[in-house]
Amino acid sequence: MSIPTLISGASQILTLRGRGPRRGDGLANVAIVKNAAVLIADSLIAAVGPRAQVEAHPLARGAQQIDAAGQVVLPGFVDSHTHLIHAASRADEYELRITGASYEEIAKRGGGILNSVVKLRGASSDALKQRAHLALKQFAAYGTTTVEAKSGYGLDLVSELKILKLHKELSAEQPLDIVSTFLGAHVIPGEFRTRPSGAKDYISLLIDKLIPDIASQKLAEFCDVFCERGAFSVAQSKQILEAGKRYGLRPRVHAEQLSHTGGTQLAVRLGAASCDHLEKINRADIRALAKSKTTATLLPGCDFHLGLKQYAPARELIDARAIVALATDYNPGTSPTVSMPMILSLACNQLRMTPAEAITAATINSAYSLGRDKQIGSLEVGKVADIAIFDVDDYREIPYYFGMNTCHTTIKRGQIIYSRSSRSTT
Ligand code: NIG
Ligand code: FE
Repeated sequence: MSIPTLISGASQILTLRGRGPRRGDGLANVAIVKNAAVLIADSLIAAVGPRAQVEAHPLARGAQQIDAAGQVVLPGFVDSHTHLIHAASRADEYELRITGASYEEIAKRGGGILNSVVKLRGASSDALKQRAHLALKQFAAYGTTTVEAKSGYGLDLVSELKILKLHKELSAEQPLDIVSTFLGAHVIPGEFRTRPSGAKDYISLLIDKLIPDIASQKLAEFCDVFCERGAFSVAQSKQILEAGKRYGLRPRVHAEQLSHTGGTQLAVRLGAASCDHLEKINRADIRALAKSKTTATLLPGCDFHLGLKQYAPARELIDARAIVALATDYNPGTSPTVSMPMILSLACNQLRMTPAEAITAATINSAYSLGRDKQIGSLEVGKVADIAIFDVDDYREIPYYFGMNTCHTTIKRGQIIYSRSSRSTT
């Protein structure tokens, strides 16, 4: 048994305690304890609550101390939507967009996702891994302790397997948990576009070859589809996601990002774990999500980076009692950031979520969307000790400061994986 760790002195500990995912008013309740402490033993939370009570725990005596004086302690962020493995940035397209081209125009000219596919196919596994290692270090430096990762820049058997195997290798080589999702249905790859039955043939390849192979090698837990104009229709998405389900891969869907396609209704009908983006959803979609257990994952980093004015209707979703989560959508085309604090700032400023709602969405609700809310996403006895400590007196300062990193210490399974020596705020 390793030496227990006691975190004390924090001005606030946000425990997020309580059952299940949060809906409606429940998002605003981050269950704050003041003058509190957390005791960690064997990578799990052994006690959390008022300082005197936690310090009286038998394991607290002799524990190594982390002094969080004047800081805020909360569960590590769960980033439930990323495209972790990619070969290069697309800063050239960023500049093209600033000077007037739209995301869809660039994609039609063979840029966009296809640009990243060409680069990924040409990159070695080692180079991709090195880039992902650097990114994962940065995720941790911003307080994130679990990352979902989608394939989708390979789009052939060899390259998709290359990505999914990297998810597995990276899980073993560095401390963050990586939850693997197969996104073979990102777009139709170039070599299939020139054939008359290209889309049909590519979907057959996904259903008959990639999904069975990936499931039998246990390389993914979820199957995702980009249900969008220029990507996959609702009917095609349904075929692919149902095939994934037959092989035990739970569905996730990219839906209603640039246009309204009906992807949300499909996600709900299939019992998808998550339906993501949602900028273009309508009232019926909001009602369907609210009645369902499908998480509505909002990705405001995309709208910010693409310079789009229409963000997802977070207030309506919360008020209707949908399960709302937040994620970075870290990817080279629409959201090149690993910073959950920046996503919280956007959620507050642009989605009109309160700081408490945004933190709930980025912890327990995103953990729920990954099927991990019993293990992570809140600070409660018996849960994994995944913790972020911020250099702020009040949790509202986490989104309040933007474009700067106020994360001071990140703890994964009870071990410090990131720590800075000086304070970032006064
Ligand atoms: O989530 N929408 C689909 N996938 C990404 C964009 C990927 C890209 O442009 O490379 C997204 O926004
Ligand atoms: Fe995405």
